[in-house]
Amino acid sequence: MEKVSITKFSNLTMMLSPLVPLSLVFIVVCSSSSLWAATSSSIKHEEFLQCLLHHSPDTSSINKLVHTPINSSFSTLFNFPTRNSRFSTPNTPKPLLIITPSNISHIQAAVICSKSHGLQIRIRSGGHDFEGLSYVAYHRFIVVDLINLRSVTVDVEQSTAWVQSGATLGELYYKIGKKSRTLGFPAGICPTVGVGGHFSGGGYGSLLRKYGVAADNVIDAYLVDANGEFHDRESMGEDLFWAIRGGGGGSFGVVVAWKVKLVPVPASVTICSAKRSVEEEAIKLIDRWQYVANKLEEDLFLAILWNGGKVSAQGGGKINPIALFFPLFLGNVNELMAILNKTFPELGFTKEECKEKSWIESAASAANRFQIEDQPLEALLNRTPINHGSSFKLKSDYVKEPMTKTAIEGIWKRLESQDIEGVTLALIPYGGRMSRISESNIPFSHRAGILYQIGYILGWDEKGVEAEERHLNWIREIYSYMTPFVSKSPRTAYVNYRDLDIGSNNKYGKINYKQACVFGSKYFGNNFNRLVKVKTKVDPYNFFWHEQSIPLSSNL
Ligand SMILES: Cc1cc2nc3c(=O)[nH]c(=O)nc-3n(C[C@H](O)[C@H](O)[C@H](O)COP(=O)(O)OP(=O)(O)OC[C@H]3O[C@@H](n4cnc5c(N)ncnc54)[C@H](O)[C@@H]3O)c2cc1C
Ligand SMILES: *[C@@H]1O[C@H](CO)[C@@H](O)[C@H](O)[C@H]1NC(C)=O
Ligand SMILES: *[C@@H]1O[C@H](CO)[C@@H](O)[C@H](O)[C@H]1NC(C)=O
Ligand SMILES: *[C@@H]1O[C@H](CO)[C@@H](O)[C@H](O)[C@H]1NC(C)=O
Repeated sequence: MEKVSITKFSNLTMMLSPLVPLSLVFIVVCSSSSLWAATSSSIKHEEFLQCLLHHSPDTSSINKLVHTPINSSFSTLFNFPTRNSRFSTPNTPKPLLIITPSNISHIQAAVICSKSHGLQIRIRSGGHDFEGLSYVAYHRFIVVDLINLRSVTVDVEQSTAWVQSGATLGELYYKIGKKSRTLGFPAGICPTVGVGGHFSGGGYGSLLRKYGVAADNVIDAYLVDANGEFHDRESMGEDLFWAIRGGGGGSFGVVVAWKVKLVPVPASVTICSAKRSVEEEAIKLIDRWQYVANKLEEDLFLAILWNGGKVSAQGGGKINPIALFFPLFLGNVNELMAILNKTFPELGFTKEECKEKSWIESAASAANRFQIEDQPLEALLNRTPINHGSSFKLKSDYVKEPMTKTAIEGIWKRLESQDIEGVTLALIPYGGRMSRISESNIPFSHRAGILYQIGYILGWDEKGVEAEERHLNWIREIYSYMTPFVSKSPRTAYVNYRDLDIGSNNKYGKINYKQACVFGSKYFGNNFNRLVKVKTKVDPYNFFWHEQSIPLSSNL
């Protein structure tokens, strides 16, 4: 249990909104040294529950949906969808309770009652936030976990689907695949990612060069706003509908469900997986890839996963970074070979490194560590991620001009590090459709002029502060090394690769205005100002708040 110091407390009072009754401030003042322990008993679970019951028409179920620390379901629920062990230590502040709504009315009640009880809400869909912002806060808070709201309804005739936020990408893909072999959806590769957070921040995957990001393909949504009111696209208005498609989760309301446009895919696609690990050859190929991948026809997505760290150690302990070339092609293997033969013969792909299958089968294979072997489609429904229990730190960059070969060599040397367990640099080619969608179409602003995106994905199992520091130092060092080679003024970043190093609101509640502008323009470019305007209009008391939420204009 975290001890609360006087300074923390004074920060806390400053953030208490005008909505918080004075009596609550009094409770906090009078509570013992441990805020979290004291408040979990003094929250008056009964009172809060009464409030929920009062605001919820189907009273029969709500008692089963509220999990306080005395319920054994609490820790299972708290820990299970937690994707990052850095934020599930005994010292991590825990919510006063977790609600798992099964009906929109429960969400409305949770918003109304949290407000009247001076509690903050954290919204969790798939729980993949890399900084744990969907389940950790330093203020009295509850978690609204959408795990029970995960239905997917596919309309093949209209080529649309309604998907609730608590569904995973895998569940969405699986349901689409069950209905049609020739429909797909352009979202992320990892099937355990939640729809709610993913769509809120953009959501890229192997179809992005053909169809853009997930948020580009959202055509309607259901949302509960800061007053607990329910909206669809029409009633929320175009400004708010714009903001929720890429402006980052947790700023504007609880998005309950999304209507998406499904996209056509051929009955058979081709995926390949080819490792290149000899230093000289791999560096040459990565260099060349920078000039080729973003100009290929948009039916071809050719990504590189560049792995290093101790897990890449070969016999004898020598660490060999590996560049895994991983294409998805919307066509057959012969066409792919012909294209690559013309545009990128150095890659030397063989047919054995590739396989034709349906799009849904390719999604299942990709989910299994980017292999091409067939996987049961049911694997897409598994909500436990491959690296469950590991710690993570991510960063991202966008590259507008090819790096020099010397720069690539510098990265290679760093990937040989003995100090870190496992790292992947995911090089994601842009171009194609991404270059034709205007920067302001939705808040996701990374469009024309971007050659590729880099995700720095660092993971480790070793516990303890020393291991964490060592890994954080490594990723900060390579990020600093990369400065000259990536986008500048601002150095842009992807909001779904959440990184509090690039600026954040004060975690105890004060908005740090300068920092909000810094992370805001990095994530959203020129769209940040419009996001601030929308935020100010729809949530003037800043009810939906977290370390990187969109600030109010009066605060800027
Ligand atoms: C293993 C792994 C693989 C990944 N692969 C990809 C990838 O291929 N492509 C890609 O683009 N990204 C990828 N990501 C990043 C991923 O898109 C983001 O972490 C995303 O925000 C996760 O969504 P979530 O619902 O699982 O997370 P959560 O932690 O539940 O939510 C993330 C944020 O959104 C808010 N939020 C959640 N639900 C809602 C809602 N219903 N309404 C409003 N706000 C909400 C949360 O409060 C939090 O701030 C990956 C992440 C991981 C861990
Ligand atoms: C949690 O415990 C309380 C008190 O025993 C009980 O009424 C409630 O139903 C439990 N909640 C769940 C989700 O099991
Ligand atoms: C919520 O409950 C109402 C009334 O019982 C019902 O009509 C509605 O379909 C439910 N909605 C969801 C999303 O479950
Ligand atoms: C690639 O092109 C060369 C020369 O144009 C040709 O000889 C070769 O068969 C082609 N290979 C494949 C796999 O298409």
